[in-house]
Amino acid sequence: MALLELEGVGRSFGGVRAVNDITTGVEEGGLFGLIGPNGAGKTTLFNLITGLIRPDSGTVSFRGKPLTRRSPEKIAALGISRTYQTIRLFEGMTVRQNVMVGGHLGGRYSLLDAIIGRRGFRDAERDLSDHVDSLLETVDLSARSSDPAGTLSYGEQRRLELARALAARPALLMLDEPAAGMNGREAQDLSTLLRKLVTETGLTILIIEHNMSMIMKLCDRVIVMNSGEKLAEGDPAAVRNDRKVIEAYLGGGHADA
Ligand SMILES: Nc1ncnc2c1ncn2[C@@H]1O[C@H](COP(=O)(O)OP(=O)(O)OP(=O)(O)O)[C@@H](O)[C@H]1O
Ligand SMILES: [Mg+2]
Repeated sequence: MALLELEGVGRSFGGVRAVNDITTGVEEGGLFGLIGPNGAGKTTLFNLITGLIRPDSGTVSFRGKPLTRRSPEKIAALGISRTYQTIRLFEGMTVRQNVMVGGHLGGRYSLLDAIIGRRGFRDAERDLSDHVDSLLETVDLSARSSDPAGTLSYGEQRRLELARALAARPALLMLDEPAAGMNGREAQDLSTLLRKLVTETGLTILIIEHNMSMIMKLCDRVIVMNSGEKLAEGDPAAVRNDRKVIEAYLGGGHADA
């Protein structure tokens, strides 16, 4: 069974069919690319999967369970974490606090547990603290752990967002343009890290990127969207040589294909 399955998923905004009839899925333990020109519907599809907006047709399922009527918090608690195209960090909080916040989204303990210091809660806090330290190590931000997030460089903020998304121990990690604003070297390091996470922890990653060389080298399978529709899907080599895909990119949108 696929980890994430989409069946005829669609959503309109006014007269714009932002996402139309998308049927696809991702299997556990792989790295999947979602690409397409500007305005293709990629971020909207992420918002539909994570519950920020509701589809007006079709269904999204995770481990065979329909997500369509669940809140973003419930969906996150089921094991789906994401980052945003526009960085969303608590700039005044430290790097470490930002990652801690990501770990609390799982919502296994109540406010009361926290206030009375219930034992399970204290153990969970200690586990989370260790986990956060190891994540900061993973994204190479240990040395910045006490600095306000707002003082980090753009590339560092992107890595911090990644650590925060990982703090909830997701099964599926969805990244919306994680390499945007990174230089070639940083994008290369990020690719190495993402592949390592998949290989070593069995994480599944779905990644939106306009950096084509990164997507082509990194992904096991690529889904291509254009004008809300699924245009093509397959391994990177097949997608790269698909005439419809080439035409969609030549017709406008990003030039870095
Ligand atoms: N909340 C909204 N209200 C109205 N229209 C929206 C909304 N969200 C997205 N759209 C429209 O849906 C279409 C798809 O937008 P979306 O942001 O999903 O594209 P994208 O593939 O992520 O593009 P980019 O690569 O530029 O990020 C666009 O026409 C956009 O203007
Ligand atoms: Mg987008």
